[in-house]
Amino acid sequence: MENMVHVINHPLVRHKLTRCRQIETAPREFRELMEQLTVLLLYEAMRDLPLAESDIITPVAAARGHFLTGPEPVFVVVLRAGLGMLEGALRLFPEARSGHIGLYRDPETLEPVQYYCKLPDGIEGHPCYLLEPMLATGGSAVHALNLLKEAGASGIKLLSLIASPEGIEAIGRHHPDVAVFLAAVDVELNKKGYIVPGLGDAGDRLYGTCQPG
Ligand code: URA
Repeated sequence: MENMVHVINHPLVRHKLTRCRQIETAPREFRELMEQLTVLLLYEAMRDLPLAESDIITPVAAARGHFLTGPEPVFVVVLRAGLGMLEGALRLFPEARSGHIGLYRDPETLEPVQYYCKLPDGIEGHPCYLLEPMLATGGSAVHALNLLKEAGASGIKLLSLIASPEGIEAIGRHHPDVAVFLAAVDVELNKKGYIVPGLGDAGDRLYGTCQPG
C-alpha cells in the first residue's frame, strides 16, 4: 500500500507558510501562523468525517441540517513544536482530546529518544491526527505512530507543515496506511537533519529560545 500524500497548495497556505519561513517573522506571529495553518490542513484532513442529517428550525423556516457524528477526534503532538499546532487544532475542535509524546533527537545519530508519553484512554475507533510540524528524517513521526498503533489507534492521519522527501519515504516504509497532509515538500535535509530551505527549528521559532543568525 502507498501513502496518500496531500500537499495543500492553496494560496492562503502558501502565503502563511512563506511568512513562517522568513527569518524576520517573530515568535508571536509565527505562533499565530502555525495555528492558522493547522486549521487549514485539518480542513482538508477532516473531509471524511461522518455527518448525520437532521431536521432543524432556522429563524425563517424548517430545514434539513448536518451535524458531525461519530467519536470525537484525538490530536496527538510531539513535544515541543507540536504544541504550536495543537493550539489551532483545539480552537477548531475544542471538545477533542489530546495526547503528548516527548521525544528528542540524539544529536549524533539523529534517532528519536522518548522521555514522555501520555495518550488519552480508549482511542480505538476515534479519528486520530498526529501533529508534527516538521517531517524531517521521519524518525519522530514513525516512533509516535508506533506508539499510537500500540494504543489501538487506526485510521491515523499525519499533519506537517513541511516535509522532506526522506521523511515522506520513511512514513511510506514504516506506516504505508497513514495519510499525510502537508503545506509543502522541501528539497532535502542538511547534515544536522534540518529541512532545507525549511523554516529552522520550529520549537525555537515558536518560543524564541534561539535568536536567528
Ligand atoms: N525539526 C525542526 O524544527 N526543523 C527542521 O528543519 C527539522 C526538524
